[in-house]
Amino acid sequence: MTEKVRLQKYLASCGVASRRKAEEYISHGRVKINGQTIISMGEKITPGEDLIQFDGKNVVPPEEFVYVLLNKPAGYVTTLSDPQGRPIVTSLVKDIGHRLFPVGRLDLDTEGALILTNDGSLAQKIQHPSHKTNKTYQALVQGHPGKSKLRQLEEGVVIEEKITAPAKVKVVKHYQKQTLVEITLHEGRKRQVKKMFELIGNPVIQLKRISYGKLHLGKLPTGKHKILNSRDLNKIFL
Ligand code: URA
Repeated sequence: MTEKVRLQKYLASCGVASRRKAEEYISHGRVKINGQTIISMGEKITPGEDLIQFDGKNVVPPEEFVYVLLNKPAGYVTTLSDPQGRPIVTSLVKDIGHRLFPVGRLDLDTEGALILTNDGSLAQKIQHPSHKTNKTYQALVQGHPGKSKLRQLEEGVVIEEKITAPAKVKVVKHYQKQTLVEITLHEGRKRQVKKMFELIGNPVIQLKRISYGKLHLGKLPTGKHKILNSRDLNKIFL
């Protein structure tokens, strides 16, 4: 059974105010327990059983934040629902028991690292241009882009009338008719990697995101996820 706690302590733990301030609110008649205004100090409540309201709004403990790194398979959409009935990435993290949303997007046919969370402020931080979070992709491209073309990608190419921010590009492997290239960007424009390679005449055949900052996908199998701890989260911004 959940233990009873003092009303002011509960209000403080839910982030309403400090305990002192919460006592003031109680004495001003702004707090209700199960619909009844309480003005006396020392009331105890059972979290999860009693309904607590402050200025008419329910007071609930903050939800636990969860951060997950998923190795997204191709064929899954990164939206929360799909009118065309295609599989959605959140169906792969159902066992977590929290309603998670993807941070940013990956194309339907792109695989790899996708963070999902229920923490809106971290999601915003990762995506905000001021943080310049690096994202590294492995692109299997058609043909063999030469040094000068790859330098063009590093220095910036014009997509939809706007030059791309500086990127890092490195050839991983040459195949007979294709090349595996690693590209690191901090921008996140729609279909950016594909558009960049299209522009230099080496279209992308397969695309996989392998890291956010220094948080690498590693050997995480396709379709699997792992819970991230605070050390993992710090790596995103390195
Ligand atoms: N760039 C793309 O072109 N597609 C993605 O899914 C991600 C980055």
